Amino acid sequence: MGNIARPLLDWYDAHARALPWRSPPGRPRADPYRVWLSEIMLQQTTVAAVRPKFEMFVARWPSVAALAAADEAELMAAWAGLGYYARARNLIACARVVAEAGAFPETEAGLRGLPGVGAYTAAAIAAIAFGERAAVVDANVARVVARLFAISQPLPGAMETIRAATDTITPADRPGDFVQAMMDLGSAICTPRKPACLACPLNAACTAYAAGMAEAYPVKPAKAAKPQRYGTIFWLEDAGQVLLVRRPPKGLLGGMRALPTGPWAAAPPVLEDAPVRSNWEMLPGTVAHVFTHFRLELALAVGQARGHAVAGEWWPADDLESAGLPTVFAKAAAEIRRVSA
Ligand code: ADE
Repeated sequence: MGNIARPLLDWYDAHARALPWRSPPGRPRADPYRVWLSEIMLQQTTVAAVRPKFEMFVARWPSVAALAAADEAELMAAWAGLGYYARARNLIACARVVAEAGAFPETEAGLRGLPGVGAYTAAAIAAIAFGERAAVVDANVARVVARLFAISQPLPGAMETIRAATDTITPADRPGDFVQAMMDLGSAICTPRKPACLACPLNAACTAYAAGMAEAYPVKPAKAAKPQRYGTIFWLEDAGQVLLVRRPPKGLLGGMRALPTGPWAAAPPVLEDAPVRSNWEMLPGTVAHVFTHFRLELALAVGQARGHAVAGEWWPADDLESAGLPTVFAKAAAEIRRVSA
């Protein structure tokens, strides 16, 4: 990997976003209170949403000591719109620890022990506020690095590889500017879709760009295979009418009108689950349906009620459209009528 830091920092000197928690490029060591506060806020929302909230917070509580002494109810109200309240509670807990100690810890390891400060946030504060060479990987940085190195491992498993690769390109000089330059590059140039590779200061070093494949990285995780379940539709006829039932109120398709089925199980079904004894005839073929969390394959059984009393509603077989059946049952009904026509 060629030198990344030099062209990136040159680009940042010309294009850095002016954000209220930042010091301008080339002037390291932003105020740790402002860096910490912005990083906690940015965990939840976008830069655009955080900006006015941040200005309001630092106007109301200009230092970590002021925040430590804040009225908790007022702080919680001010946090509204920034997501999890647990974060606001950690914010005040952290402010109290820091105010008590007199200052923020100045290393990644020291910061890591603070309430609400995880691995990412500790690294970000260490680099941006204290100039420590720390590998900082948020979603924007992960995308940039996955492309630079054409990391083919899918997310999220690739995160450790991406972190290690980020470490190899993070410079000892201006590490805070470097991480924020990576964030800005990810936000403005190395975007998830249609990255502006021709305008990118790192295109000469980018493995994915060289292969014409920037957009293919980072590699997304394969979708988990859906479990397969099986069931049987019991099509019970009596004088041109077909038996419909109500699904139990709780659960999938709860409370909806349906054709009777046995349970939907991991193994192919048995006829014992039929609503009545009948001379059930199995039709050839099955009906398949894909739900959000599983696939269902339904065998089709047809029987005659012959006056048996059964619980349910009799519905004209040629007017099932008006019964409002969920798709899976409408599909099964259409298939049964097609096969047995
Ligand atoms: N996202 C998280 N931290 C950030 C920062 N310092 N600048 C821009 N975006 C960020």
